[in-house]
Amino acid sequence: MEVVKTKSALRSARASLKGQTGFVPTMGALHAGHMALVEAARGRCAHVVASIFVNPTQFGNAADLEHYPQTLADDLDKLEAAGVDLVFVPNAAEMYPPDADTFVETPHLANILMGALRPGHFRGVATVVTKLFNLVRPDMAWFGAKDFQQVLVIKRMVADLEMGIDIIAHPTVREADGLAMSSRNLRLDPDDRHAAAILYQALQTAQATAAKGASANAIMEAARTVIAREPRASLQSLDLRDANSLQELPAEHALSAPAVCLLAAEFGPVLLIDNMVIDPTR
Ligand code: PAF
Repeated sequence: MEVVKTKSALRSARASLKGQTGFVPTMGALHAGHMALVEAARGRCAHVVASIFVNPTQFGNAADLEHYPQTLADDLDKLEAAGVDLVFVPNAAEMYPPDADTFVETPHLANILMGALRPGHFRGVATVVTKLFNLVRPDMAWFGAKDFQQVLVIKRMVADLEMGIDIIAHPTVREADGLAMSSRNLRLDPDDRHAAAILYQALQTAQATAAKGASANAIMEAARTVIAREPRASLQSLDLRDANSLQELPAEHALSAPAVCLLAAEFGPVLLIDNMVIDPTR
């Protein structure tokens, strides 16, 4: 496995990879969720490229950026064991020269929900992913479905800018108690880690309530009630939206098609997100 830190080294290493190339962009602190993306990419492509870059432009909050877990040596061991060919590990100066003046925006999808909670977040994601795509030039790229809105933003951007890359959302990988795997879980203290399982319980309740033919409002209320039982959870947002457009649904109607329940909650200083596609016929 080759590890490169500069754009020029990446370009020359990439040039020697012939055949279908899959890409898994990450911010490091790799867990089984990331490794499932790598494994899926390995199964479909002749070569796999990964990147590890904690992208400052997607963090509104300096403390969040500063505390983002960094486990580089361990990450590289995992990627090597998983058969990755090439890893790009740039620093911020390499990715953002001081005179850089271009951003990529998908305003309709990016300024709602998590984007309203974290202004500028998806602009930072879309910009860095565009840069990474231009550098790596993959045929396919894998993202975790836990970041539901991120996947929609990236798919929109790839379609609108004719990037010609297949974007694949891989199902969320969960801990035994249902907590979605996330690098941020490493920052939870033991009590918050235990409490955080409430998010999955709330999503399961949303699904069970929808299956009984309840209205969108009643589904959201049932999920909110579950989270309210956990005093360590500070609910930041809970929404039920159209799973393709993220538009609001009629509040008093039962679901006529699958919708997505998206939630965000703080446990101590750590913001966790999760989602589930809710199917009223299930
Ligand atoms: O999902 C992530 O880890 C990041 O948002 C990504 C896609 C690597 C961009 O920095």
